[in-house]
Amino acid sequence: MTDDTEKTTHFGFQTVPEDEKAGRVQGVFNSVASKYDVMNDAMSMGIHRIWKDAMMDWLAPRPGQQLLDVAGGTGDISFRFLKRAGHGHATVLDLTEPMLIEGRKRAEAEAMADSLDWVVGDAMSLPFADNSFDVYTISFGIRNVTRPQDALAEAFRVLRPGGRLMVLEFSQIPNDMMQKIYDLYSFNIIPRLGQAIAGDRDSYQYLVESIRRFPDQETFLGMVQAAGFEQAKYRNLTMGVACLHSGWKI
Ligand SMILES: C[S@@+](CC[C@H](N)C(=O)[O-])C[C@H]1O[C@@H](n2cnc3c(N)ncnc32)[C@H](O)[C@@H]1O
Repeated sequence: MTDDTEKTTHFGFQTVPEDEKAGRVQGVFNSVASKYDVMNDAMSMGIHRIWKDAMMDWLAPRPGQQLLDVAGGTGDISFRFLKRAGHGHATVLDLTEPMLIEGRKRAEAEAMADSLDWVVGDAMSLPFADNSFDVYTISFGIRNVTRPQDALAEAFRVLRPGGRLMVLEFSQIPNDMMQKIYDLYSFNIIPRLGQAIAGDRDSYQYLVESIRRFPDQETFLGMVQAAGFEQAKYRNLTMGVACLHSGWKI
């Protein structure tokens, strides 16, 4: 017999009880929320913007679509989606309220507040009815979720038939030499940048470790298919540093 209280998972390179992970992840994003956008530009040298634009190119938002942007943080994906769609609606859901508060400030500054809702919640248990959204996105979020397969099941449930899933996440570089160079950069530079800019080395140490723990492209593709998505495919970005996975609820 399995005892739920004994289940463990990873938090970066540490093993922690499964029911502690969400609280620790929240701690990370509570701590970095006010510096999150600045840090994204600094640690990726602006490349996260190119990846997010590539996500929109593949997604091709259409006028009137309803987006659910899970782990949406400060709203980067939702803002891009609404601008490309022309008009539509985005619901940004995130575990960490301070991230949403930063996003809401940006929405007000860009006069986009009317097209957006901000909801505190967990990707593994979405507070929405079945078949509610046209598009579900999760960008640099799913590797932080305790049970990613449960999050994919929830994505499938809340999408309408004909709805589209798109996941943007760090991935694995299928070239040993490039992977070594990338590891040198990410393990040595990113935590130092975190200390210098956000005053928080440990949170950025977690972020780089969590990237290494996330499944590779093919494994994650299998997880998308196992959740019920059809025509599931992926595209590597920057040689696999990041990756987009797409699937349809038919
Ligand atoms: C790296 S940020 C990504 C923010 C934004 N999507 C972007 O691409 O810039 C990860 C976000 O995932 C959120 N998160 C982590 N676990 C979550 C969960 N189980 N459910 C919902 N949000 C979660 C965090 O609070 C954080 O805001």
